[in-house]
Amino acid sequence: MAHIRKAVFPVAGLGTRFLPATKSIPKEMLTLVDRPLIQYAVDEARQAGIEEFIFVTAAGKGPLEDYFDTAAALEHHLEMKGKKEALAALEDTRMREGTLSFIRQDQPRGLGHAVKLARRAVGDEPFAVLLPDDVIRAPRGVLAQMVDAHAQIGGHMVATMDVPQKQTSSYGILDIESKKGRIAQARGLVEKPRPDIAPSTLAVVGRYILQPSIFDKLAIQGPGAGGELQLTDAINADVADAGVVGYRFAGERFDCGSVQGFVQATTAFALDRPELQQGYQKFLQERTEIVALRA
Ligand code: G1P
Repeated sequence: MAHIRKAVFPVAGLGTRFLPATKSIPKEMLTLVDRPLIQYAVDEARQAGIEEFIFVTAAGKGPLEDYFDTAAALEHHLEMKGKKEALAALEDTRMREGTLSFIRQDQPRGLGHAVKLARRAVGDEPFAVLLPDDVIRAPRGVLAQMVDAHAQIGGHMVATMDVPQKQTSSYGILDIESKKGRIAQARGLVEKPRPDIAPSTLAVVGRYILQPSIFDKLAIQGPGAGGELQLTDAINADVADAGVVGYRFAGERFDCGSVQGFVQATTAFALDRPELQQGYQKFLQERTEIVALRA
């Protein structure tokens, strides 16, 4: 089974749920504790053995491109001052020369359209897609979990989790044929079905391992939910040829595309940090008591 070497990061979204913050900052640069969202996705990809990072960006995403560039003046300054810790903090932002590429999406035409634009960069091999909005706190990165499982199964693979029935219209949903352990064999996928017609409550979370055959399907796919070109529809169209499974990952997913999910993720990740934990926990307890008294 082919090694998964390349990952596509669709980062062209406008981040309208985070206005006004995202008026001048890409949403992927919003910060969980002290790292931007995109850093979490890149770290997860690296852990899974990804060697080439393909970003599908748009106008206004300059800060994201700069983030993975060397900051010569800053680094020189830190070296001169002997600020070793600050220099070390930049370590994870360094990408090996020639491993990063940026493709522009000129209009927000959907996730499927963004992935379609990566065709030439990906070429004829299976690849990963990571949506940085979906931050997953896991003992082992979810993409690494999927790469392992994919080596045994092949085809298209999507990360999945169960959602409440009333939320099916926010996700891609699997039509399940059979389940075994973490794997659900799917008959098909539907993008954002109404709860009363959803084929299940097993939802797609933003991690995919896709076969290159997806590009032929994306090339002929018409607009779907929300008038956008949907990746879910193209995967669904390829089920008969390539097969698709859902992988129920071990981990806790935060929807960092929503303010609620973002705030919760901030708290969860802050509490994971030994240097912050004690003080933050105490603070949270006190705040919770104050809020309870107010109610
Ligand atoms: C996208 C996908 C959807 C998936 C979701 C996971 O939707 O289209 O199938 O369930 O990500 O976060 P979006 O949230 O971008 O509307």
